[in-house]
Amino acid sequence: MSASTTLTAPIGPFPLFGYPLVVGPYGHLRAERDRLRGLRWQHFDARLVGATLGAEISGVDLTVEQPAEVIAEITQALHDYKVLFFRDQPLTPAQHVRFARGFGELEIHPALAASADQPELVRFEKGDNMVGVENAWHHDVTWRERPSLGAILHAVDVPEIGGDTLFADMYAAHDSLDDETRAEIDTLDAVHDFTRAFGRGASPEQQEQLRKQHPSVVHPVVAKHAVTGRKHLYVNRIFTEGIVGYDESRSRELIDRLARRADAPEHQVRLKWEPDTVAFWDNRAVQHYAASDYWPQRRVVERASIIGPRPSR
Ligand code: SIN
Repeated sequence: MSASTTLTAPIGPFPLFGYPLVVGPYGHLRAERDRLRGLRWQHFDARLVGATLGAEISGVDLTVEQPAEVIAEITQALHDYKVLFFRDQPLTPAQHVRFARGFGELEIHPALAASADQPELVRFEKGDNMVGVENAWHHDVTWRERPSLGAILHAVDVPEIGGDTLFADMYAAHDSLDDETRAEIDTLDAVHDFTRAFGRGASPEQQEQLRKQHPSVVHPVVAKHAVTGRKHLYVNRIFTEGIVGYDESRSRELIDRLARRADAPEHQVRLKWEPDTVAFWDNRAVQHYAASDYWPQRRVVERASIIGPRPSR
């Protein structure tokens, strides 16, 4: 037997003895990674930066109105790469909104502060006395009946070090699950609730009032992307209240186990912001996590969110 035969192992990943961890190649990423590497574009260049997600797009100026064919190609690129990064885009709030409107109607957030004269832009202004708390994996606004299909975040003022945003591929997260878990979750629904994140600190009466304004909604645990048709995980620890038909501890265990699929660096891409970087993510295909490692430095980003269809399986 030759040395190479001896060393050949079946494709992993394999459990690490005694730990809830696996080591070895994430073979389920291969086909998508190779597909993305082969893509070519007419109106811009794209450089893939993660295995299956994230592309730096160059050759487009987002401060000027883009023709329909460029918007259409950016939309296609978003569905392929799941998150797009554009550098050196000194957008005014009005230009930001105009660009985002190219992809659909924009939502207005009922709880987060807005940019001065653009109610469609959520402004995350962090610093000495306003700390970053978006450092938990989440899809945005899954408590809505029609959560956003995508979000466009513009870096207004970012620290020199820290404050990166990480994105995790929820198709890959789904595909990494064992057959038994996939069979269990395929037909499950989950309850998503506004008050989990935004009702903290409110009295029971105020919470009741909030619940009336923003009642809980139910979405599939595994949704089928409205455009790509691919299955992706659609639960997160911030907004998902529980699994329909499961008691609290069983719900928490399952949601936590599914959410952990985002923790694998193989499923992630990490964006280091510079002033005027813009990130455009597909809010179904990825979850995101804003590293909160920069306090008390200032970090200001503004987000436009595009209303999506109701998730379905
Ligand atoms: C968000 O959670 O939408 C904000 C992400 C960020 O601040 O990077």
